[in-house]
Amino acid sequence: MTNTGILGIGTYLPEKVLTNFDMEKIVDTTDEWIVSRSGIRNRHVVAEEQATSDISVIAAQRALENAGLEAKDIDMFIVATATPDMLFPSTACIVASKLGIVGPPAFDIAAGCTGFVYALTLANSFVRSGAYKKILVIGAESLTRILDWTDRSTCVLFGDGAGAVIVGETERNGIVYSVLGADGSGGHNLTLPAGGSALPATHETVDKRLHYVHMNGPEVFKFAVRAMAKSCKEVLDKAGMVASDISWFVPHQANIRIIESASQKLGIPMEKVLVTLDKTGNTSAATIPITIDMAIREGKIKKGDKLLAVAFGAGLTWGAVVLEW
Ligand SMILES: CC(C)(COP(=O)(O)OP(=O)(O)OC[C@H]1O[C@@H](n2cnc3c(N)ncnc32)[C@H](O)[C@@H]1OP(=O)(O)O)[C@@H](O)C(=O)NCCC(=O)NCCS
Repeated sequence: MTNTGILGIGTYLPEKVLTNFDMEKIVDTTDEWIVSRSGIRNRHVVAEEQATSDISVIAAQRALENAGLEAKDIDMFIVATATPDMLFPSTACIVASKLGIVGPPAFDIAAGCTGFVYALTLANSFVRSGAYKKILVIGAESLTRILDWTDRSTCVLFGDGAGAVIVGETERNGIVYSVLGADGSGGHNLTLPAGGSALPATHETVDKRLHYVHMNGPEVFKFAVRAMAKSCKEVLDKAGMVASDISWFVPHQANIRIIESASQKLGIPMEKVLVTLDKTGNTSAATIPITIDMAIREGKIKKGDKLLAVAFGAGLTWGAVVLEW
């Protein structure tokens, strides 16, 4: 078995920012409601000409530069996203092509906001087995494209962004353990109902606004706290660690109240919890790499630190991973 770790990281947040005060002009909401109920203050929005593949490519180029590698060194491309450029071809194929690469396998992972943890786990297994050497793993979303801008209960919560890492062989074992899970019976609580084979696009589906995110917020909230705490305990057990061994907790950035409840259940003090959702909103599959990258830039995460990252999302899905940076 080969040791694996993250060789480089890069992220991208689109230039345009919408503040809560901007949101007040779009729907019947207030900065006070959004901050107190979610912790979010700003979100980034893709430019008109940007699709998920475009923001992925920028993050990927930054990750390659950070690792001292070139696109031709990558032998597999995985994109975790709930907002692919189109149903097919996969966004990963488009990204590889935009990076000038032909040949290596490329595919998307559909696990909602848990997608990055799923993709990282998969990449880790491929590298550990010796089958592939350097895998580009991207979590990227253009969620503002699928939000119903008349639904105040969802449109204030999400934002756009991309994060990329390169998983490869390392001397020490950087990706220690992970656990993944799913419960499709709760899937109806977070959906984009139309546009697939169950409900193909018609004038009626458009009129009924079924091509946008539909969410039962309170149900997702309850699930999230349970799933985060349970999967973190499982992965810590697997790694033979306890919460106090962790240098930084990197929770999926959906809602500060979910993060606080999960941290409390796990006994992790808030000083060790990385929070970026105030600046970005929920960028779904991109929140974990974006949060890690910001913490590195702020001088918080240092080489050798032990990270516990956890996510939950559409599916419903969940996943947690212990990493040594
Ligand atoms: C969505 C969420 C912030 C709502 O918070 P909440 O405290 O559960 O609020 P509720 O949904 O019970 O709504 C409370 C009230 O606020 C109102 N409200 C909803 N959005 C609002 C907004 N943007 N501004 C002002 N009021 C709003 C509702 O209409 C409701 O009013 P009512 O009581 O008159 O019916 C919260 O449930 C949540 O974060 N859920 C998890 C979502 C998530 O993580 N999704 C991503 C998964 S990856």
